[in-house]
Amino acid sequence: MTSQSFASSVNADPVSEFYTSHPYPPPVHNLERDVWRDENAHRAEYHLLWPHKEFRADLDVLVAGCGTSEAAKYALNHPAARLVGIDVTPTSIEHTETLKRKYNLTNLKTQQLAVENVSDLDQRFDVIICTGVLHHLADPGLGLRALGSVLKPDGAMYVLVYAPYGRAGIYVLQEYCRTLGIGTSRQELAELFAVLKALPQHHPLFAAQGGSREFLDGDLLADALLNPRETSYTVPQLFDFIERNDLMFGRWYSQAPYLPQCGAIARTPHAERLSALPERKQYTAMEQWRGVMNNHSFVAYRNDMNNNSLKVSFDDERYLRYVPVRLPWTMCAQERLPPGAAGVLLNRLHQFQDLFVVIDTYEKRILEAIDGRRSISEIIGRVEGKEVSPRARSFFEKLWWYDQAVFDTSKTQ
Ligand SMILES: C[S@@+](CC[C@H](N)C(=O)[O-])C[C@H]1O[C@@H](n2cnc3c(N)ncnc32)[C@H](O)[C@@H]1O
Repeated sequence: MTSQSFASSVNADPVSEFYTSHPYPPPVHNLERDVWRDENAHRAEYHLLWPHKEFRADLDVLVAGCGTSEAAKYALNHPAARLVGIDVTPTSIEHTETLKRKYNLTNLKTQQLAVENVSDLDQRFDVIICTGVLHHLADPGLGLRALGSVLKPDGAMYVLVYAPYGRAGIYVLQEYCRTLGIGTSRQELAELFAVLKALPQHHPLFAAQGGSREFLDGDLLADALLNPRETSYTVPQLFDFIERNDLMFGRWYSQAPYLPQCGAIARTPHAERLSALPERKQYTAMEQWRGVMNNHSFVAYRNDMNNNSLKVSFDDERYLRYVPVRLPWTMCAQERLPPGAAGVLLNRLHQFQDLFVVIDTYEKRILEAIDGRRSISEIIGRVEGKEVSPRARSFFEKLWWYDQAVFDTSKTQ
């Protein structure tokens, strides 16, 4: 199919029609700068993608399937980056353009363009962000390959796709909507939400939300229940998807949920058996054990990139030259602490409540010495003089596993 005939088939596509009348996320008029005022948030974001490279902010970034506000938010919060936002629907582009004018986002360009045709931009990118898009494509592999083809040789891609186990409740309700032939008119949507409010408490829709009914938000549910097409991926299917399309898995955006050494599973009789499995099998088993993951967010690279340089390992003394950077969505809770604890570390992105780290006063002093500039050896020097205790190493490794910090390893390359 030529690029032009593909473009016209995409325009007639039911997903494109759906998002034209139901733009997602719901359009906003104001953007917030929230965590991005802090320079360390940028460093953390950068080293999550590239532990081994020196930080720089002047990146070429593509937001593919940008929806109504994702590209504008990114452009506002990353003024040194050069942004391109593409989306197949005119409504998404119009909303993005409105925000661009309002906030004078001179670093953002937009174009109505399908992901599958991204090479028409004739540009390569350091970062490609594609969240909530590929699983709606008629051929997600075609979309992923197209994105890979415009990634710079050491570029990084941040992707979010649906995962099936946590969507069981959605699938049942999608079938319910099909059984009744529910359409997307205002009246039908209002009736559907009224019906959903009466759902039994033990419906699988709520199980995936930890029993919470907050999910009964109109726009989110319309997007989830009435979307004309979606695919989802278990962990093994995801690896296959990535590798079949000439990319390489880098890391999970949040890795603790996939690691058997983190959380409640680590204190069960299966802990040892799980840790003896190859890495991918561990991720597979953790997805099955957790049971309610509804998406996978991950970082991928071109498959010709050297993955040794990406490794963050605490196996030899090189880790002392790493510079830890706290992730912006982490916090140290100080209330209702267990006896003897000086804090409890949490990550607001984690869906699972067992993924916390209880710290003592020694670990808290280490944590407080992390400023995004000091190396681990400098931090240890401040906290305990010249001696490096094994406790320090295992604490830094724990901060890594639990998505509390990323590490700038560029001084060890
Ligand atoms: C669920 S929204 C996600 C929006 C945004 N990425 C975010 O996370 O806020 C999906 C977006 O993908 C867009 N989309 C769907 N198919 C597309 C395609 N083939 N090419 C480009 N955009 C597409 C839709 O128009 C919609 O704006």
